[in-house]
Amino acid sequence: MVQRRPVADWTTDFDVMDPAYIEDPFSIWDELRQTCPVAHTGRRGGAWLLTTYADVTEAAHDIGLFSSLEVGVIAAEEEPDDLLPYGLPPISSDPPLHTWTRRLLLPWFSHSRVDSYEAMTRDLCRRLIDGMAPDHADAAADYAQQIPVRVIAKILGVPDELSDTFTGWVRDVLEFADEPERVVRGRDGILGFLIEQLLLRKDDPQDDLISQLAHTSHDGEPVEDSVVLGIAGLVLIAGIDTTWSAIGSALWHLARNPDDTARLVAEPELMASAVEEFLRVYSPVTMARIVTADAEFKGCPMAAGDKLLMNFPGANRDPAAFERADEVVLDRAHNRHVAFGTGIHRCAGSNLARMELRVALEEWLARIPTFRLADDAVVTWAGGQVRGPRSIPVVYP
Ligand code: HEM
Repeated sequence: MVQRRPVADWTTDFDVMDPAYIEDPFSIWDELRQTCPVAHTGRRGGAWLLTTYADVTEAAHDIGLFSSLEVGVIAAEEEPDDLLPYGLPPISSDPPLHTWTRRLLLPWFSHSRVDSYEAMTRDLCRRLIDGMAPDHADAAADYAQQIPVRVIAKILGVPDELSDTFTGWVRDVLEFADEPERVVRGRDGILGFLIEQLLLRKDDPQDDLISQLAHTSHDGEPVEDSVVLGIAGLVLIAGIDTTWSAIGSALWHLARNPDDTARLVAEPELMASAVEEFLRVYSPVTMARIVTADAEFKGCPMAAGDKLLMNFPGANRDPAAFERADEVVLDRAHNRHVAFGTGIHRCAGSNLARMELRVALEEWLARIPTFRLADDAVVTWAGGQVRGPRSIPVVYP
């Protein structure tokens, strides 16, 4: 267990891994927006935390001052990996590397590709529900957690049986980011696996993302293996924890709000706006940036090398940007949320994430239209880079 010092002052000493922040960051952001909208901490090497919609969106577009060369909310303790000199592009890169690596990925997540994964996702959701007990389940572990990893495995062209192993590696890297041994275990697992797959596909290409990346070129040269590995690793990491957290949070909300559940069952045409609202209210992803030059931002003296936390979840709860910001309004008409980020790094997998969230909710509600938290339910949350429930014990008639 990592020992943590309690936070005495959130404006000058915040800790995103503090249990109070993981459990209820919302009241902390509300307080900070009133008193100190750009907070600072000296912990974990130091960082600034933005809390308003206006500041987060401005910083996301200022790619000159805020670089993506380090996007980890919790700094890695070991030396950067020689195998991945560019990290995980496009997310961990600035232009020009960002521009062409993003372009390689986008076709895999276009609307038409995503449509082609829908039947398989729906079938998967049905099989998961078939496998659950008739009157109770863990909506996170038995359902939400099982969906995105299998869809990503399909896109990467890896066998379904490896899904649990993948999930373990991704959790090691993201959820246990301040436990160095787990980070190393997860990273080595992912890299070892991808290197093996890349070698196989160089000789025997299949119809999958790794094969395509292995046989593509940029500026007339084959793409370096380290870039291919970084892109494939990113798809694995970015596509799993995030979406499972979003599905889990939506089910957690519905388990506690029977009126919303009943309305969604009675008015299925609200599903599209409900999905956006769940993404806004329970946004899972916070990213980081590195300040490139000494500068004042929003009155704060930032120094080259400082870390800045892009608090997309906090921006989405800003009452200056959203009426009734803390409420889930299933039919919210205007919802310019930034759960997927904004600017050049806006989520490349958003079409896929939306489809998975919609299908997961549709299939659950079709079979389990009324459900609630179990009486003795202990709901546990993960936080840091990706926030979401890890256990949601529910019961249904
Ligand atoms: C609900 C689920 C998801 C959420 C909330 C989410 C959120 C985000 C956010 C906030 C960013 C911006 C990063 C930044 O500004 O630094 C991002 C980027 C990215 N996401 Fe997602 N994501 C989700 C699902 C997915 C899925 C399913 C994939 C597909 C594998 C994916 C792939 C990516 C990629 C490749 C980037 C990097 C884009 C770039 O740097 O140009 N994400 N995501």
